[in-house]
Amino acid sequence: MKNEKILLVGGEGFIGRNLQVKLYEANASFESIDNYNKDAHHLRTVRLDRNVIVDLNRITEIISFLNDSSPTTIVYLASETGTGNSNSDFYNFTNSNCMCLANLLEACRIAQCEPYFVLASSRAVYGEGCYKTHDGNIYFNLKRDPSHLEAGCFDILKNGVPLKFLPNSIEQPPTPISIYGHTKLYQESLLTTSSEIFGYTILRFQNVYGAGQNVFNSYTGILNQFVDKALKGLAINIFEDGEMLRDYIHVDDVTSAIVESIKLKNHNKREIFDIGSGKPTTTKQLTSLIFSLIGNNKNRYRVSGDYRLADIRHAYCNLSKTTDRLNWTPKVSLQDGLTKLIDSFEDHYK
Ligand SMILES: NC(=O)c1ccc[n+]([C@@H]2O[C@H](COP(=O)([O-])OP(=O)(O)OC[C@H]3O[C@@H](n4cnc5c(N)ncnc54)[C@H](O)[C@@H]3O)[C@@H](O)[C@H]2O)c1
Repeated sequence: MKNEKILLVGGEGFIGRNLQVKLYEANASFESIDNYNKDAHHLRTVRLDRNVIVDLNRITEIISFLNDSSPTTIVYLASETGTGNSNSDFYNFTNSNCMCLANLLEACRIAQCEPYFVLASSRAVYGEGCYKTHDGNIYFNLKRDPSHLEAGCFDILKNGVPLKFLPNSIEQPPTPISIYGHTKLYQESLLTTSSEIFGYTILRFQNVYGAGQNVFNSYTGILNQFVDKALKGLAINIFEDGEMLRDYIHVDDVTSAIVESIKLKNHNKREIFDIGSGKPTTTKQLTSLIFSLIGNNKNRYRVSGDYRLADIRHAYCNLSKTTDRLNWTPKVSLQDGLTKLIDSFEDHYK
């Protein structure tokens, strides 16, 4: 990365700030721009001097920034996040996630700046993902029926029979079910469609966790919220039957995947990768692990049967293509990552 000028867009959020530390340690040259979106930053009052606020809604402002800074690689992290919130906030999610990236690409074209892009996409593009019947038929684009959820039946059914979940993989067609998922897929399409101009690597993150994540967004930070509650002795409400699967990936692994993707630029690649641990964990298992690491034997949690219509049943990914083609494997186990996270919360409370 010696000759790279890296621009982080949305670089002041959770993943962006962790990435800045990694790039700084690698002696890389980078800048960060961000709009300090209120949902991501409502607790932050201090802004760093070196940060530049550029309004991605104003093409002329972006062009003038690009003319001054001439980035060779752009890591695009800017997004409104939160699956469920997106379904009642069409304008903000569509404007921020689709229009702002379109404006940046258009500005690059006008400024004759042709950086390589690393795009932070999401497992939300898969929606409920892919399921298989016992006789081997494969189904995509299935949805859970609200009346089944209300009756306490949370699995994906076909003719009344629960199906087997197959891990997310880029071989599967994307079938988003939230506005957020659609906007992330649109971000991908903007890049893949302009691939003659811009090289790219698209990374579809599973559930990222780690120090510095916003605990107030109930759709992104479940793990941080559970740790916060467990440490404060507050009861944890586990939705559905607690058996839903998720793939928790530590932010250190995610930032390493971004750094390795920047290095792919030299190979003129245009790739999409799933980035997760590749290991499924149920919400009940996650909660038990948190309590065992905290050493709290009261285990204050309740499996409530509550549900949210925007939630999907299962998600975890198959990493085989990623580990074949990207010089990366996840290194932080859930146990070690959680231990680090709990330590960071305990330091914060002191
Ligand atoms: N955290 C996760 O679990 C996860 C999972 C899948 C995908 N992702 C993706 O990774 C990226 C980073 O996520 P994060 O967890 O760091 O989120 P975050 O909300 O902490 O950070 C996003 C940053 O982007 C900024 N931003 C938002 N809209 C912007 C705009 N229009 N112009 C400029 N800046 C803008 C925000 O102010 C914030 O600083 C996002 O694109 C998100 O969709 C995150």
